Amino acid sequence: MGHRTWGGRFAEGLSELAARFNASLPFDRALWREDLWQNRVHARMLHRVGLLSQEELEAILEGLERIEKEIEAGTFPWREELEDVHMNLEARLIELIGPPGGKLHTARSRNDQVATDLRLFLRAAIDELSALLLGLRRVLVREAEKYLDPPQVLPGYTHLQRAQPILLSHWFLAYYEMLLRDAGRLRDARERLNESPLGAAALAGTGFPIDRHYTAKELGFAAPMRNSLDAVASRDFALEVLSALNIGMLHLSRLAEELILYSTEEFGFVEIPDAFATGSSIMPQKKNPDILELIRAKAGRVLGALVALSTVVKGLPLAYNKDLQEDKEPLLDAFATYRDSLKLLTALLPGLKWRRERMWRAAEEGYALATELADYLAEKGLPFREAHHVVGRLVRRLVEEGRALKDLTLEELKAHHPLFAEDALPLLRLETAIHRRNSFGGTAPLAVRERILEAKKEVGLA
Ligand code: ARG
Repeated sequence: MGHRTWGGRFAEGLSELAARFNASLPFDRALWREDLWQNRVHARMLHRVGLLSQEELEAILEGLERIEKEIEAGTFPWREELEDVHMNLEARLIELIGPPGGKLHTARSRNDQVATDLRLFLRAAIDELSALLLGLRRVLVREAEKYLDPPQVLPGYTHLQRAQPILLSHWFLAYYEMLLRDAGRLRDARERLNESPLGAAALAGTGFPIDRHYTAKELGFAAPMRNSLDAVASRDFALEVLSALNIGMLHLSRLAEELILYSTEEFGFVEIPDAFATGSSIMPQKKNPDILELIRAKAGRVLGALVALSTVVKGLPLAYNKDLQEDKEPLLDAFATYRDSLKLLTALLPGLKWRRERMWRAAEEGYALATELADYLAEKGLPFREAHHVVGRLVRRLVEEGRALKDLTLEELKAHHPLFAEDALPLLRLETAIHRRNSFGGTAPLAVRERILEAKKEVGLA
């Protein structure tokens, strides 16, 4: 059948443009280590079941060894006309060792081969990302601990309106929790993807007496996949990874966005370290948070990758179709994007300069303590809904007069509602408000400290 002619520049019958369009080598070269590993294991299996002689196996392993050295040294003759990484390695093997090289593809198809490589690649990628996530979670815990004592405060927001004061440590830990779940999602995806498609061959299995359990085990898979059609046709493992990366990137983009906002002159809570900001070419006063802006924006690429691959798989008939070659670029791009974003934030966060005074004032200044007064009246027996109205009227009046909550005198409070007494005044202090929020998961220093201690254990810091 119109297979490759190793000598020709392009596949027989394909125009140059078509051949280039068809080729995946420019991006699936990234899988060469996985392909080599798989080739070695497959060859050993073929030998064990009697399909390769000892000499043939040795020749193949030696050839693969030389190929590895060539690739590492940058001397490997990559040829795009050979379409993909698999054909490149196989053709080179035959060039180097002759006919035994041609036996390597016995009982295998590129369909199970590429699915196997991709699973191996993603498994390693997940391990790398998990390590990076752990590193970033460590930073988040350390920062949380750093600002706990003395407690550093900022306004917590809803609708981007100052709502209630919170601890900066509590804010850090919110991201810690998100990232903890992101790591869990990757772990789950890893567990499900760790099965071997190898030996499914083109789609139906093979008549050769292969040992799929052996190859699965040697490649570190939990088991061979149980259905050959599923093994070569499915990419839900890749979609799961992309979903996890997408959610992970969304979290990073929120963190980036908050830091961008907080670093504006309008907020003035934090200063981005110089190593992660650039100056403007014409406005000398400006410091632009480029890196954070890019992290915010690149979440779009990762979502794009998920959408792209979902669309490829949607409605695709079984089993392998060339459409599936389109799985690699989105995956590689999403992986690199998320990896770099994690690294950058890990380096950036410890260098942030938080402006304690400004944050404190912002938390105190507005009417972020109004809830305290409403809670107070509720504790004295007024139904909360009514207490809310009473304090609402008070705040409206203060706004009109251009005054802050802490400007209130005891007399004014008493005049506003008879349930107000002397013990209401301390509530208008930030410290009181924070310390009161001592419910499980709340922002009180005691509650936050407890979570920090646990989190330190989770990330191996204690
Ligand atoms: N380069 C192909 C891919 O990435 C390898 C599998 C090709 N299989 C085939 N039947 N043409 O999907």
